[in-house]
Amino acid sequence: MSRHFIDMRSDTATHPTQAMRQAIAEAQVGDDTLREDPSVNELIEKATALFGKEDGLFVSSGTLANQLAIKVHTNPGDEIIADSHCHPFRNELGAGPFLSGIQFALISAKRGAYAREDAEKWLRPTGGFPKSTLLWVENTHNQGGGHVFPLDKLDELRAFSTEQNIPLHIDGARIFNAIVASGIPPTEWARRCDSICFCFSKGLGCPVGSILLGEKALIQEARRYWKMWGGGWRQAGVLAAAGVYALDHHVERLADDHANAQLFSELTAGIPGVRPVHNTTPTNLVFLDISETGKTAHRINETMREKGVSFSVPNAKMLRAVTHLDVSREDVQTAAQVLADSVR
Ligand SMILES: Cc1ncc(COP(=O)(O)O)c(C=O)c1O
Repeated sequence: MSRHFIDMRSDTATHPTQAMRQAIAEAQVGDDTLREDPSVNELIEKATALFGKEDGLFVSSGTLANQLAIKVHTNPGDEIIADSHCHPFRNELGAGPFLSGIQFALISAKRGAYAREDAEKWLRPTGGFPKSTLLWVENTHNQGGGHVFPLDKLDELRAFSTEQNIPLHIDGARIFNAIVASGIPPTEWARRCDSICFCFSKGLGCPVGSILLGEKALIQEARRYWKMWGGGWRQAGVLAAAGVYALDHHVERLADDHANAQLFSELTAGIPGVRPVHNTTPTNLVFLDISETGKTAHRINETMREKGVSFSVPNAKMLRAVTHLDVSREDVQTAAQVLADSVR
């Protein structure tokens, strides 16, 4: 049998479990573009009830959910107030400017957690300036090392959003990591925003899928663009069934991923030349600065790959290791050892 490859590049690397495959096999299906797929409808009902939002749209990816949110909250020429490392600015191939004609007003903030005062600075006078029409919050924050957005800061941003009548979107690709790590339930996050999206295909362990949640009218408008952009799918119940299964079985276990990330941080802390980028308890994302090893991150990762382990390489000086459903406690111990051997 081939050796188990420890893929810690991302929590998107999970493969569906046998039980999830069984749920997929037994899924009731229909045409989702007509809202006739029972499994998709069940998933939407489950998600809207959990988060206390009126309606939802099940889509293929977090990128599509984010881009639909941008589209329905903004007009061309508008500005989105966001932190400078947010996913749609860094990692969505310029889709916001391309699809919605927006630009970003970027805030440099520790681990993505910007404050009301930072956002206020971007409120432009009327006249020859772009209009700020969306506040963007990422929770947990990917480039911020899986940081949970502090609720008090979100409260202040929400007050600002209400006063200025600027909607607030939460990119909650990993909101369940935030929920499990903080103990703050879904409704508490969701009532502080106008729309929220999250991914089934990350920590929740599904092969495909994300969801956008918000008011009925907003989701109806998002459905229009979803279909227009070619996102409409038919018997998507086979994917939604995995999501339903994950909401029932894969949420609480995220605590194991967090414990494994913590163990991994501790094990790598003593490796010469390797420094944690963020000095707090991780959720499931661990960034390591390897600049003092004298090797590039690409080189180290290549060596690790030969030994059956892979991280992602955000840049030449950094590695990112992610814990998830397919990474056990033993795997993180092996991964830490392989890293130690590979930087030598
Ligand atoms: C914070 C955040 N938002 C959105 C996405 C996009 O998700 P997808 O890869 O499904 O398009 C990611 C993916 O890593 C992410 O980390």
